[in-house]
Amino acid sequence: MSFRQRYTGLIERYRDRLPVHDDTRIISLGEGNTPLIRLHNIPSMLGKNVDIYVKYEGLNPTGSFKDRGMTMAVTKAVEEGSKAIICASTGNTSASAAAYAARAGITAFVLIPDGKIAQGKLAQAMMEGAVIVQIMGNFDDGMRLVKEVAVESPVTIVNSINPFRLQGQKTAAFEIVEELGRAPDYHCLPVGNAGNITAHWIGYSEYACGEAESVTAACTLCQGHCRFAGAITGQRPKMVGYQASGSAPFMRGKMVDNPETVATAIRIGHPQSWDQAWIVNKESGGWFDECTDDEILEAQKLLAEREGVFCEPASATSLAGAMRDIKSGKIEASSTVVCTLTGHGLKDPDTAIAQSTAPVVKVEAKLDQVKKAIHDNLG
Ligand code: F0G
Repeated sequence: MSFRQRYTGLIERYRDRLPVHDDTRIISLGEGNTPLIRLHNIPSMLGKNVDIYVKYEGLNPTGSFKDRGMTMAVTKAVEEGSKAIICASTGNTSASAAAYAARAGITAFVLIPDGKIAQGKLAQAMMEGAVIVQIMGNFDDGMRLVKEVAVESPVTIVNSINPFRLQGQKTAAFEIVEELGRAPDYHCLPVGNAGNITAHWIGYSEYACGEAESVTAACTLCQGHCRFAGAITGQRPKMVGYQASGSAPFMRGKMVDNPETVATAIRIGHPQSWDQAWIVNKESGGWFDECTDDEILEAQKLLAEREGVFCEPASATSLAGAMRDIKSGKIEASSTVVCTLTGHGLKDPDTAIAQSTAPVVKVEAKLDQVKKAIHDNLG
């Protein structure tokens, strides 16, 4: 009997494209290799001939795309001798940092906005042994403090300003190109700090490059970490970034001081990868747009109800925006569209239950009552 080789995470899989050495101790939880699910029911509802795929990043080990970046960031932190990592977070980064720190045997400090992170994420960071610092402020305050404290304290920042984070996250683009056999025409993502949209663009660009002996000026985003930075010869998608209306600095053209949205993961007014995201926008020929909280929740529900895919509210922003742009024709017919679903729906059960209209029928534990409940609700 033969066995398929055991999957041991994205660093092993893409070792030749990532900044690791032969003797680097790899800190992995088997992240990456997430499903690219082709939607069946939503495209026909839209009445448009488009292929929509969702890259279900919620199936990473801690339930979000952050694990792709964290395996790299923590691997490098440990290699460099760091005994502690730190991040500001709207929840997912803290859950991921805590898990990889636990795995590595180092300490994670996480700064989170008091009362504004989803329950699942808080539970993860608590269980995974992070030191949780709840700040009376938002993510942007946390980010500022993390940068300040790291100047004096022996801690490595693992937010996406750490360039190794983007290196790990670029592998999502590799997986998509390998699975589709080509890059999609459009890639839609929810945007907060804009690290992930930048990472995807690095990934697509690397894949579309000829091999180069050394890094050239072709890649303006990777901070010198790309291995394949020759001239672009292959196809790349248009990158489309959607923000929540109450937290949409890219739409306002300036930082937003008091961001608000039900999609707490992207409740960010001062994106850390501001300049990079504008480069991605320009180089890819894509665009930014915004979605209201209602549109986001509607898309989250539709995806769960019609396709059986449960993502957290922020993640549904990519689909909410894509559906609108497909309907209007801005995303052209016959296109292949990939929407990243950044985090799992179970991260934020409170928001899900609050908006659900699922029929919950309470009956006595008697056969006739159960039968009646079935009869009354048969479609
Ligand atoms: N979707 C989810 C579920 C997120 O958690 C985040 C960011 C984003 C999208 C936006 O990605 O910042 O790269 O543009 N969450 C960070 C955190 C800020 O702390 O977990 P981005």
